[in-house]
Amino acid sequence: VVCIVVCMIVGYLFGCIQTGYIVGRVNKIDIRDYGSGNSGTTNTLRTLGKTAAIITFLGDAAKGLVAVNLARYVIMPAFGVEGEAYLWLLTGFAVVLGHNFPFYLGFKGGKGIATTGGVIFAFHWQLGLICAAVFLIITIISKYVSLGSICMVLIIPFILYFNNPQDWKLVVVGCIFTAMAIWRHRANIVRLMNGTENKLGQKVKR
Ligand code: G3P
Repeated sequence: VVCIVVCMIVGYLFGCIQTGYIVGRVNKIDIRDYGSGNSGTTNTLRTLGKTAAIITFLGDAAKGLVAVNLARYVIMPAFGVEGEAYLWLLTGFAVVLGHNFPFYLGFKGGKGIATTGGVIFAFHWQLGLICAAVFLIITIISKYVSLGSICMVLIIPFILYFNNPQDWKLVVVGCIFTAMAIWRHRANIVRLMNGTENKLGQKVKR
């Protein structure tokens, strides 16, 4: 239990590193005052442009990747815990929590998609590639990043199941990732249904 708590706290703190917010501050804005109010890659793209978005994506994905590997190769071995793959994912979920709800920014952060990608990639790189492919295909075809994101998180429990049908704990944690992301995209879902969602490439005036 102590090991789980330590992994989750470390994960949460990693998640609190808000790349989009930092990039916004460097550009003298609070990114959350613009566009969708989100601090992630998509809103950084529409508000600050491509370079800012690439930096945000890399930073947000990297924190998921690094935290999961830290739990897997450093924290868990230090506690003598081995082979509990669901704990890697749980640490990744804590990173997403930190990203979505950073304590020092009034718990107002992002939607956790780039971070989830980094977590899944760290967990199992082939599954990470499947997630990336689904995200890219749906986003490019539909021009809605939110739709690509939603489709990506919907497949997570299924790919975890088909990758290892014996380990139900992984599927449970996978469902938690999906539920969190769908909840964070609830406004996007309403806009998608109304036909008012922002399309990829739309810019926001600063
Ligand atoms: O990853 C977030 C994306 O799916 C939607 O972002 O800013 O359009 O709400 P946004």
